[in-house]
Amino acid sequence: MSVIKKCLFPAAGYGTRFLPATKAMPKEMLPIVTKPLIQYGVEEAMDAGITEIGIVTGRGKRAIEDYFDISYELEQEIAGSDKEELLNSTREIMDRCTFSYTRQVEMKGLGHAILVGETLIGREPFAVVLADDYCVTEGDGVLTQMVKLYEKYQCSIVAIEEGPMDETHKYSVIAGDLEADGVYRVHNMVEKPAPENAPSNLAIIGRYILSPDIFDVIRSTPPGKNGEMQITDALQIQAQQGNVIGYRFQGRRFDCGSVDGFIDATNYTYNAQSA
Ligand code: UTP
Repeated sequence: MSVIKKCLFPAAGYGTRFLPATKAMPKEMLPIVTKPLIQYGVEEAMDAGITEIGIVTGRGKRAIEDYFDISYELEQEIAGSDKEELLNSTREIMDRCTFSYTRQVEMKGLGHAILVGETLIGREPFAVVLADDYCVTEGDGVLTQMVKLYEKYQCSIVAIEEGPMDETHKYSVIAGDLEADGVYRVHNMVEKPAPENAPSNLAIIGRYILSPDIFDVIRSTPPGKNGEMQITDALQIQAQQGNVIGYRFQGRRFDCGSVDGFIDATNYTYNAQSA
């Protein structure tokens, strides 16, 4: 059984880059071929042995709750037909996982969304998945890789990948010392720096394992840019205490929060499935 039992999905953001599609549906429900983004995230958590799923939702996100539930009428309708098996993957998720929800009433940033999720997590280490970062791997899923690393380091872990050096203003970066292959002890984190101020091009992506003290740290960290509570600011405090690992994961990430990344992910997955 995994030492990490719970995974939090902050899913309250407006998804403005996908308007008008996200006007009345959550970004997390956009499908890559036939499965919504959030399902890939839940499957990744499940593969890592995590079965308690907490989702931070907001207004207009009801479709997520309905998705991880039985749809009696539809299931009755397709029972006994060749379409029945199309629901096998969601049925398996519902058999193995429990789902809890809480709402972020005001969208005050990712750090704030994670803090809102405290009620679903309590005081234990937990994983965080941003479902719009869609990750494909050949072997272990990204969270499985990170859970293994947590067993060794017992502190917060952020997944990182190399980003383009001239686009550091689009992502958050770390500075750290290489401890082992792909493993950095982080000593600095900067949110969207201009390329000339960036300590590296190692970009943080939407997979984290957080130690439970993160909630107190977020609470005591003053709001950053635009009055939002960024998780990077809280992680920076843990990093200064030597308690953050940056992990260059094995696999490929698509930024499905952007239209280009979403289309790339769709093409990649469709081709992989038809191969
Ligand atoms: P994004 O920066 O992608 O923002 O959030 P967004 O609102 O989802 O999308 P755009 O930029 O308007 O198109 C990163 C992750 O953090 C969550 C989002 O749901 C997404 O999974 N988030 C962000 C919250 O849950 N609450 C917030 O207040 C902000």
